[in-house]
Amino acid sequence: MNSSSELDPEQHHQYHQYRHRNHQKKLVALAQKTFTKPRAYFILLLIVSFILGYLTHSQPLISQSADDLYEHNTFPNQCSDPIPSNQIRQKILDRVFNGTSPFESFPPEQVSPLLFKEWTKGWGSQAAVFEHLIQQVQPKTIIEVGTFLGASATHMARLTEGLGLSSQIICIDDFRGWPGYYDEEKSLKMVNGDSLLLYQFMQNVVNANATESIVFLPFSAGTALGGLCDWGVYGDLVEIDAAHDFHSAWTDINNAYKVLKKPGGVMFGHDYVWAGVRKAVHSFARLNGFRVRIDGEHWVLY
Ligand SMILES: *[C@@H]1O[C@H](CO)[C@@H](O)[C@H](O)[C@H]1NC(C)=O
Ligand SMILES: *[C@@H]1O[C@H](CO)[C@@H](O)[C@H](O)[C@H]1NC(C)=O
Repeated sequence: MNSSSELDPEQHHQYHQYRHRNHQKKLVALAQKTFTKPRAYFILLLIVSFILGYLTHSQPLISQSADDLYEHNTFPNQCSDPIPSNQIRQKILDRVFNGTSPFESFPPEQVSPLLFKEWTKGWGSQAAVFEHLIQQVQPKTIIEVGTFLGASATHMARLTEGLGLSSQIICIDDFRGWPGYYDEEKSLKMVNGDSLLLYQFMQNVVNANATESIVFLPFSAGTALGGLCDWGVYGDLVEIDAAHDFHSAWTDINNAYKVLKKPGGVMFGHDYVWAGVRKAVHSFARLNGFRVRIDGEHWVLY
């Protein structure tokens, strides 16, 4: 119950005015006590500079155009002049492996017992699209983005050898799997957090007798494709089979297109069933004047 509830309306009003004035006086006294003059000026100055800073900063952000940012959405498309295809293997050995084939004296003694004789897991790695495109393009150089254990790379090695093409297959992968990667059946031999995927991939290449036709760049897709671009290494056939989310697929496709031989080269990829991949493929096709053909689980630009 309010103490003023028994007063008549006029008294009630006066009472409130009195209380209000009294309250103001108390506040002023408190402010005078708390804020000595210099202190008050200082705080006022802080508030004013904050407001000024807010106004001058936020207004241009609202009205500024983003034209200058669009360039970040385009990928440079000029790589070095192409080197002859018969120099590509040596170029990669020189630049990545100090001139020596990584398959020399492989596997190292301590690694050998940790590898599986047979572990060639893959997805759609033997699909008919490989044979279709290898027959069509007769590639001297194949670039694969996303190799995992090398199932499709060794399949392509067999196909090209069968056709007497002596193609060089360049495998790009960081050979780490992916976050959450774990194979219930096989990756139990992890060593201090290393899944040994690189060594197992190499073992699979050895098993397939493909150590001459396959070479690899054990880096992330963007970094490895940047290297090929710098060295003038182009692929007649470029295969994208890495991450499935839109941004990864979009970046991989754009970066890989830089090192696709033009004209005549063909770019294709796996995982058309994934929405992110599909969106990246069709966006790229529309922007660059390609059509998309579906071959099983794969997409082909033509
Ligand atoms: C790279 O090769 C050179 C020349 O053969 C050699 O002297 C050097 O030790 C090698 N470096 C490494 C890290 O193996
Ligand atoms: C690899 O070569 C060896 C010996 O030359 C042969 O026995 C083996 O069948 C070959 N493997 C494949 C997959 O071609």
